[in-house]
Order: sequence, then structure tokens, then C-alpha cells
Amino acid sequence: MASGRGSNFQALIDAAMRGEIPDADLIHLIVNKKDAYAIERAKKHEIGYTIITSHDKTRKEFDQSVLKLLKELNIEVVVLAGFMRILTPEFIDTYRNRILNIHPSLLPSFPGAHAHRDAIKYGVKVSGCTAHLVDKGIDSGPIIMQTSVTLSDQETEESLADKILKYEHQILPKALQLLCSGKIVVNGRHIKIRSD
Ligand code: GRF
Repeated sequence: MASGRGSNFQALIDAAMRGEIPDADLIHLIVNKKDAYAIERAKKHEIGYTIITSHDKTRKEFDQSVLKLLKELNIEVVVLAGFMRILTPEFIDTYRNRILNIHPSLLPSFPGAHAHRDAIKYGVKVSGCTAHLVDKGIDSGPIIMQTSVTLSDQETEESLADKILKYEHQILPKALQLLCSGKIVVNGRHIKIRSD
């Protein structure tokens, strides 16, 4: 699921084409905005897509439409790849421990929609990105993988976003492969990766 540019979605496509996500099939893209560039990427790679607009629906209506489609398509795992909307508890329960999100900060620092701005404002020297399972809170689910970057004295919101994005594109496909391989063991907040 995506809301805009879709570069993380593209990173999944590229990794899949390189054979790096052997346990996942990228079946379908769902966007909540008609003009999301992610749609062009799905078209180019002949991946099915559906636009389910969110601006004209309640949160519940939107999530129910998405869940209906996911059921029809037999979708097992959902990736929030730049999907900028909170899901209802019903959605989270239906896909418990099967929703993956990528967030541009080292969680639990700077959750929410303005992670880069918040990190710069706070004056941190290190930030990064986090691939995590989605629970009912905001960017609060168990962490699968993180990567850090160092901030320069001249860092801007844009330069930090660019710096971090590169690593988002690396860890999101890796986290998806781990999740789909069944090697992830969730114990409360803690995730262990089985080595067999
Ligand atoms: C990424 O930084 C993602 O972490 C955040 O929104 C951005 C989406 O970028 N949630 P893209 O649409 O994947 O290019």
C-alpha cells in the first residue's frame, strides 16, 4: 500500500527482480490517492493495482474496502510502503503480525508524519530508518530491522530525507523477505530471527 511517490514500492519490485525476495510475490498495489506516482510503477511492471480513495470515506469504510479486496486477492502480507494513513484496530487484528511498515527515523524516536523535521528540530546527531510490524499504535510495533545515518551540521529536512531513503530501500525488501520466509518470531515487543 502506498500514498505517493512509491520509491519504496519500487525498491521492492527491484529487489524481487534481483531474486532477493524469493518467498514473496508482489501481487497487488493499493493506493489511497488517485495521483499517486506509485501507480505508474505498478503499470510499468505489470502489477495489478487498485485506487481506493480515502478522502471521501470514513476510516472504517476505507479499511473495510481494503480488507474486502485483500480477501478477494488472498493476500497474506501487507506492506505499508509510504502509506500515510492510520489503520483501524480491526484491520490490524485481521493481519496481526503480517503488516510491515517502513519509517524514516530510529523508532521509538520521532514517530508520526514529520520524522525528519522532528529529528532536525530536536538536534539529534544520528537518525535512520526502521522496518517494523504494525500494531495498534503509531509507528510503535515490534522492530525487525534498523539502519542509522549521521546528521551533518548543515542537514536540512530534504537532505536528511534523501540520506535515509537510500537505506529504507535496502531494509524494506530484507524485512519483507524475513517476514515471508516465516523466520520471524514475535515475542511481545521482541523479534528474533530464526537462523535455520
Ligand atoms: C518514506 O520516507 C517512508 O518512510 C515515509 O514516507 C516516504 C515515502 O516515500 N513513510 P516513497 O513513497 O516510498 O517514495
